[in-house]
Amino acid sequence: MGDNATFWLPEGNSTLSGEIDAVFYLVYWISVVIFIGVVAAMAYFVIKYRRKSETELPPAVHVHKLMEAAWIVIPTILCLIVFVYGFRGFVKLNTAPPNSYEIQAVAKQWLWEFSYSNGAESIGELHVPVDRPVRVVASSEDVLHSFYIPVFRIKQDILPNRYTSVWFEATKVGEFDILCTEYCGLQHSGMLAKVFVHSQSDFDAWLAEANADLPPAELGARLYTQNNCNTCHSTDGTSVIGPSFQGLFGKQRQFESAPDVEADENYLRESILDPGAKIVQGFPNAMPASYSSLSAKNLDALVAFIKTLE
Ligand code: CUA
Repeated sequence: MGDNATFWLPEGNSTLSGEIDAVFYLVYWISVVIFIGVVAAMAYFVIKYRRKSETELPPAVHVHKLMEAAWIVIPTILCLIVFVYGFRGFVKLNTAPPNSYEIQAVAKQWLWEFSYSNGAESIGELHVPVDRPVRVVASSEDVLHSFYIPVFRIKQDILPNRYTSVWFEATKVGEFDILCTEYCGLQHSGMLAKVFVHSQSDFDAWLAEANADLPPAELGARLYTQNNCNTCHSTDGTSVIGPSFQGLFGKQRQFESAPDVEADENYLRESILDPGAKIVQGFPNAMPASYSSLSAKNLDALVAFIKTLE
């Protein structure tokens, strides 16, 4: 759990959280009162109407018309109150204000990726301005996920092959948890992210900085996780599915069916673009060819990143 995990609902931090909490606690306290009433009546009846002798026969009971009407009318009124109250909140929750700032999100096993209007991107971090409606338009790259920000009281299933959106307006600057609340595979519980609520000026500064050109090795490090290279290639020497990237650059490589080669820039480039060309001894030919679509800039960045892993 994150730092701001609590047993009760965490303090609300969006323009709608007060309204949502009000409906929640209305239902909650109605339930508490009914629960106590039912249990108390049950305890009273158990004692009052217990069988007192072996031969005792219970008297025939006749329906009390007024009482029967009451237990139909009262719950119906309660349900209608909860419905009207809840429905009003539901409509607000599903209608983003037209001036909302829009952020695109992608959910995939097992991370959240966000892109902003100026081309900036962030992984595992959602940056938003305070006191301004934000609409997140999301889709999934693989299975069902669910986008949940407890402090904003929003939760939205994210589906593959379609866009789903959710909006909120944060009322306080700070750092809060984002969770995935739809079981999406082994690392579901680790599919966490943070939302950073900034003042408008800090947000603009962050946006500008996030979109600044990164040095190639830093961009490469970002691409390494963004493209899921880390699923198969470690940076600490352990062999996962493919060989580790640690100490790879400049090393003599032995292959299944090709002469030895020193791992230089051209070898790295070839192995990314055409993974089957040279298969390192002891590893399967398992890497998908899809990385051939990387842009030249991104390719250079990945190579630069691998070179830094001594
Ligand atoms: Cu994504 Cu659970």
